[in-house]
Amino acid sequence: MKHLNLLQKYLSNLEVLNVKLHNIHWNVVGKQFVRVHTFTEEIYDELFESFDAVAELLKMKGQLPLSTMAEYLENSSIKEVKAKDFSIREALEMVKEDLVIMRDLATEIRNLADEEGDFETVGMFEEFVGFFSKNIWFADATLK
Ligand SMILES: [Fe+2]
Repeated sequence: MKHLNLLQKYLSNLEVLNVKLHNIHWNVVGKQFVRVHTFTEEIYDELFESFDAVAELLKMKGQLPLSTMAEYLENSSIKEVKAKDFSIREALEMVKEDLVIMRDLATEIRNLADEEGDFETVGMFEEFVGFFSKNIWFADATLK
């Protein structure tokens, strides 16, 4: 089942993005500091819960979830960034770009799972897509 490999990639993305969002949460600077600091925290809290849920979904499908940082870095399509002062715009653009990557991957997994009749995955990923769409809108609205 093709979507199971994508689930491993999605799991890897969640872990790399968790670290990256903390980086932005700590190092963003500017007048809207509190807004972006809180925004990133809300997202990583939610993603961290889905990290466990996706790994357990893989277990339910008889798969061994990737479980080391080395594997996550190797399989992730999220690019890490070095710490520095991030301007508000820079921070929001990075967050938005990664949320779009996550939404597109979640959509692809949802649709492949649907073709394969895997309704548990469809249900879980429909919620993820909704979460990303909402937060892409927040990032966009703040950038305007
Ligand atoms: Fe914090």
